[in-house]
Amino acid sequence: MKRTVRDLKNIKGKRILVRCDFNVPLDNYGDILDDSRIVATLPTLTHLSKHGAKLIVCSHLGRPNGYDKYLSLFPVAVYLMKCFPNKVKFCGKVVGPEVEDAVAKLKDGEILVLENLRFHPGEEENSADFAQKLASLAELYVDDAFGVAHRKHASNYGVALKLPSAIGYCIEKELQVFGQAFEKPQRPFVAIFGGAKVSDKLKLINNVIDKADSIIIGGGMAYTFLQAKGYNIGDSIVDLDLVDDARDLMQVAEEKGVKILLPIDHMALIAEKDKAVKTEILERGMVGFDIGPKTIKMFANEIANAKQILWNGPVGKVEDDRFKKGTTKIAKAVAKSQAYSVVGGGDSLSAINQVGVSDKINHLSTGGGASLKLMEGKVLAAIDVIDSI
Ligand code: 3PG
Repeated sequence: MKRTVRDLKNIKGKRILVRCDFNVPLDNYGDILDDSRIVATLPTLTHLSKHGAKLIVCSHLGRPNGYDKYLSLFPVAVYLMKCFPNKVKFCGKVVGPEVEDAVAKLKDGEILVLENLRFHPGEEENSADFAQKLASLAELYVDDAFGVAHRKHASNYGVALKLPSAIGYCIEKELQVFGQAFEKPQRPFVAIFGGAKVSDKLKLINNVIDKADSIIIGGGMAYTFLQAKGYNIGDSIVDLDLVDDARDLMQVAEEKGVKILLPIDHMALIAEKDKAVKTEILERGMVGFDIGPKTIKMFANEIANAKQILWNGPVGKVEDDRFKKGTTKIAKAVAKSQAYSVVGGGDSLSAINQVGVSDKINHLSTGGGASLKLMEGKVLAAIDVIDSI
């Protein structure tokens, strides 16, 4: 069992480096468009601050190439200043003398927010030197950055090798929810997967076949499965290299008695006319971009009968308003069901938020790639290196 923040005793006055995932969407004015990831780390920050620790909080934001003023963590520091009045300071550097100076001035219970870790090349390179510089700021390390836990970066993997470590409440909850969903699923367990690329989800679906009762497949990836079943998919996206794998997977599902539900109609674009149409049969010149009304009904029925739902990935091209209805309807169906529901992945979460039903979902995961890796049955590198008790 991993050590958690609760296991850290006598932390008053101790310097603790806390890795958060504050990779939140910002607009050009620095306004935070979705604060869920910050909210998810508040229990850990509150616990440590209340117990008198001196917190050095770090995170990445976006994928910058060197310094980028639009990806500064300052707006996040301002947000935290409102949550912890008079306790939060911001340092516009990641490591170096200014950071060391600011750390030395920290009082018990105060929180110092460092600048975006990815402004430093050592972060993503998992440089031992950069990890050492971060580690030297603190006596203990707490990892609460679930969203980035599948990556071996200096601030999570590297630092955990150098300091006594623990996980925070956000990571603890994520591990508990996914663990329980897979080890003791409530049945019927319906898994819903979407997204454009079948390559991203094939391993995951393979793993879920052993646990789920039915698997709903939508989004661009559905067309590879439909092609494998011999359907005409018009000019829709298909990964020809994976058609055989998709066929094998469906064969395994059939042998195990797991239902695979694929779209039976579509919202498609007649490419040359830039016109969206409802169709049951995709012909040449047509590109399927969303599930159609019959599919929505079929998927919603399956969802209504579930006792446990896991949803990751949009069932249509949500960035185009003409093709977001399917995903919106799935969000509504998941929210309406009585099932224990877990939703992960940026587009599925934003569909839930847009429909305004986040309070109807049992667990909104803070991790996209990380939750996919967990569902594939993989170990998350940065959590694996945290001390056990
Ligand atoms: C995420 O948004 O999934 C995490 O913050 C990880 O970000 P990354 O994919 O840029 O590493």
